[in-house]
Amino acid sequence: MQFDKVLIVDDELVIRKSLEEQLRCNRYTVASASTLSAAENLLAKDNFDLVFLDVRLPDGDGKQLLKHFNSLPDSAEKPLTVVITGYGSIESAVACMKLGAFDYIIKPFSLQEIDVVLQKAESFFHLMKVNQFFSSQVNDEESVGLLGESPAIKHIRSLITKVATTEATVLITGENGTGKELVAHEIHRQSHLASNPYITVNCAAIAENLIESEFFGHEKGAFTNAIQRRLGRFELANNGTILLDEIAEISPHLQAKLLRVLQEKEFERVGGTKTLKVNVRVIASTNRDLRQSVLKGDFREDLYYRLNVFPIEIPPLRERGDDILLLSDFFLKRYMRKHGIQLKGFSAEAKSALMAHRWPGNVRELQNSIERAIILSNGQEWIFPNALNLSANPVIEISDTAGETASTPSQEEPLVNLETVEKRHILRVLEATHGNRTKAAGLLDISTRTLSNKLKQYALCETKG
Ligand SMILES: Nc1ncnc2c1ncn2[C@@H]1O[C@H](COP(=O)(O)OP(=O)(O)OP(=O)(O)O)[C@@H](O)[C@H]1O
Ligand SMILES: [Mg+2]
Repeated sequence: MQFDKVLIVDDELVIRKSLEEQLRCNRYTVASASTLSAAENLLAKDNFDLVFLDVRLPDGDGKQLLKHFNSLPDSAEKPLTVVITGYGSIESAVACMKLGAFDYIIKPFSLQEIDVVLQKAESFFHLMKVNQFFSSQVNDEESVGLLGESPAIKHIRSLITKVATTEATVLITGENGTGKELVAHEIHRQSHLASNPYITVNCAAIAENLIESEFFGHEKGAFTNAIQRRLGRFELANNGTILLDEIAEISPHLQAKLLRVLQEKEFERVGGTKTLKVNVRVIASTNRDLRQSVLKGDFREDLYYRLNVFPIEIPPLRERGDDILLLSDFFLKRYMRKHGIQLKGFSAEAKSALMAHRWPGNVRELQNSIERAIILSNGQEWIFPNALNLSANPVIEISDTAGETASTPSQEEPLVNLETVEKRHILRVLEATHGNRTKAAGLLDISTRTLSNKLKQYALCETKG
């Protein structure tokens, strides 16, 4: 990725002309100004990617322009600035660097020096754009926002709009697949932090011994394998939003550290001694009843209150009435497009089946059922109930029969040890939940971390995270 528009601000004609020529040879679009006010006029009319800025100008100090760039709300509009300075005024170059200048060159400079600066700026510009892309990237799945016309969803949308104007900590709760991550992302997108980073951490997916470093980073040599300093997610999220997904799963040790970040906005990297300050909007989410976790002594009460400043409780899909059909139609269109399959829609019986189902996996389950039904119905006109496969609700089936299986083993079955029974049962539940660990853990009534540990213990999975 190349930048295009360059502005030269210098009162010396020779410098302007030589820079202009070199830049034009490199195919940049160039404009130049000999005074601060001329530069300001040009900047008011157009966005520049790079500015060569002389510090001493006839009508003022180049630093004023740097200060102006700093005040721009949208970081995407800030140009990179290369300060041009005379040999005797290195101090002013240093002052400019402190104000956020990208680099400086000393007069007289050579063509090669400019080339080096341009190359450096190009790679920095590229990284910056990649970063902006990922920060603002909304994957196709999320770009539509929170769909639904039920009173419950309308209420949630109004809560999102209200809390987005503040930097209050938000606690989002709801069953699996109700849309917690979607709501968190919406809050960030509608807030004034929208052009800043949006970083998520899935607390259940990261191994216990790595999670602190994932949150706060580590210094080189902090532990085996820490071959380099690494920034944590809180640092990456600075001036933006962090989503602490599945917050109930963090250990008491990390709960204490998190409390400190929320209270003091400071922390140390693992193995580090320097205290770092961050300004981050925190959103936490969980499918557990955190209050229960507090009562059971699994979650710190003080941390609970710090997080629960603005609670948003997302209702299960089965309580959202016709939203089920609205979402079904939306997913129908999305997945027909994705798979290049044409269908007329849901048969009347299929619609009734959709409305009657309990949807324990909520919107995610609905989404998966419909994608599967579309593929199964390829070649037909309509989606019929059998394609939705809702009667064989795996969750109900498991909970109804689990006890029976355990107490009445078949005659031929050899008597096995407890570990084997546990391993088999975990596999059954995982199969029934289509490999969804969060759901499986919910059914087994253990934390996702415990489930991950058991999977590792029984070598039932590759180690993740
Ligand atoms: N109201 C909605 N409108 C459109 N899509 C939705 C809606 N709610 C959820 N989804 C989609 O359903 C899927 C599940 O949502 P999400 O991941 O936000 O749920 P979650 O509550 O975080 O789930 P889990 O507890 O399993 O982590 C996502 O693909 C999301 O985009
Ligand atoms: Mg989630």
